[in-house]
Amino acid sequence: MTGRIADATLWREGAERIAWAREFMPATTAIAAELTDSGRVRGVRIAVSDVLEPKTATVALLLAEAGADVVVSCVGRDTDDAVAAALVHAGIPTYAQRNATEADDRDNVLALLDHHPDVIVDDGAGTIRLAHTARPDILAAMAGATEQTTSGVRPLRTMERLGELRIPIIAANDARTKSLFDNAHGTGQSVVLAVADLLDEPWAGIDVVVVGFGRVGSGVARHAAALGARVTVTEVDPVAALQAVFAGYAVEPLADAAGHADVLISTTGIAHTVTAAHLERLPDGAAVAVGGGAFQEISLLNAREAGAEEVARQGAISVLRLPNGRRIRVLDDGHCINVSAAEGNPIQVMDLSFGIQLAAVEHLLASRGTLSPTVHILPAAADDRVAALALGAFRGGLDAVSDAQRDYLTSWIPRDIAP
Ligand SMILES: NC(=O)c1ccc[n+]([C@@H]2O[C@H](COP(=O)([O-])OP(=O)(O)OC[C@H]3O[C@@H](n4cnc5c(N)ncnc54)[C@H](O)[C@@H]3O)[C@@H](O)[C@H]2O)c1
Repeated sequence: MTGRIADATLWREGAERIAWAREFMPATTAIAAELTDSGRVRGVRIAVSDVLEPKTATVALLLAEAGADVVVSCVGRDTDDAVAAALVHAGIPTYAQRNATEADDRDNVLALLDHHPDVIVDDGAGTIRLAHTARPDILAAMAGATEQTTSGVRPLRTMERLGELRIPIIAANDARTKSLFDNAHGTGQSVVLAVADLLDEPWAGIDVVVVGFGRVGSGVARHAAALGARVTVTEVDPVAALQAVFAGYAVEPLADAAGHADVLISTTGIAHTVTAAHLERLPDGAAVAVGGGAFQEISLLNAREAGAEEVARQGAISVLRLPNGRRIRVLDDGHCINVSAAEGNPIQVMDLSFGIQLAAVEHLLASRGTLSPTVHILPAAADDRVAALALGAFRGGLDAVSDAQRDYLTSWIPRDIAP
């Protein structure tokens, strides 16, 4: 066996679920077929560091089938042990165990990096950053990396600004075919359904406070409203706040909104968005969850230091007694709820994100040696290609820009003004 997993005997169950997921990933499969035909990834070492469930495993297997030497890692809380076992059974070195400690998680990423990848396919940029701090020797030979999330692209742009980024990055997250669908639709749906499933209470008429009205927040607000909740949005960006007003939601400072929240969901992806003081404003029995995913997005460690105490726990719900005596329910210890306590985004939506990730791998390899060590946007033609492939699966059809339109778009002479 290669890699480090919990239980190799689970492989059959994992393989069945991977085979099922693959059926709903037409765009990713089509881009992988193009990689096979072009021979672009043949013999290329590709490290995949992502939430390890059937959709990610499909990507790893498709890359391997296209001829790449694939290696996979994942942090423990986002690992499905049966899926990890299926990958190892298929011959892909995999470093991921559900019960991993933080030290194990780090060792697993280091083991992945010790395969000297040419390309890293990352989610959250933890692996790219660890490569820079703990394995800098491997960077010079790399073609680059592609990053899937808003919260991962942000620190990579900081590294670029500080002159510390040493490899080209494709901001897969920023492709339109990724963030307009995964963040805004898939995550909105899967976060709200994960929270609703854990609470198992009616949502009609309850007060839901959505912290942040970016792409994820707007999706969470829309899905909560669709279940009948009264939605209040909190923001720090006046334009985003105004968009929330125009979408029909109340907008208030968090300190006020928390006072009437039955359910509060943070979607900023920024640590310490919801502070211990905000938690103290919540009514007795309120529930809090994270849809963004930064460590301590809800400052639970600070709350504990301030005297909050766990008084009960049932499954993924922990009841905290706050210093003011009120009890609140914390869902899955403030981890990214749709991933850590549910199955992540719908497959058809992840098909778009993974199609973009594979298009980014193709772009990095086609441009090897020519891209600067900065954060790049995926070229529009590659972005459009993934969308066009997926459109068919959603039974959509497309027109083409006509010659007459093209002529109008490219000329500057004011023919529309009478002489
Ligand atoms: N759970 C998932 O499956 C999943 C999927 C996609 C993205 N994400 C993560 O969700 C997070 C948000 O992604 P996005 O694409 O919506 O980002 P975004 O930048 O579009 O939105 C974030 C919003 O939060 C607002 N904000 C920042 N600080 C705030 C504060 N203190 N109070 C209120 N609002 C505040 C910002 O103004 C912005 O509008 C990121 O961490 C991203 O990686 C999670």
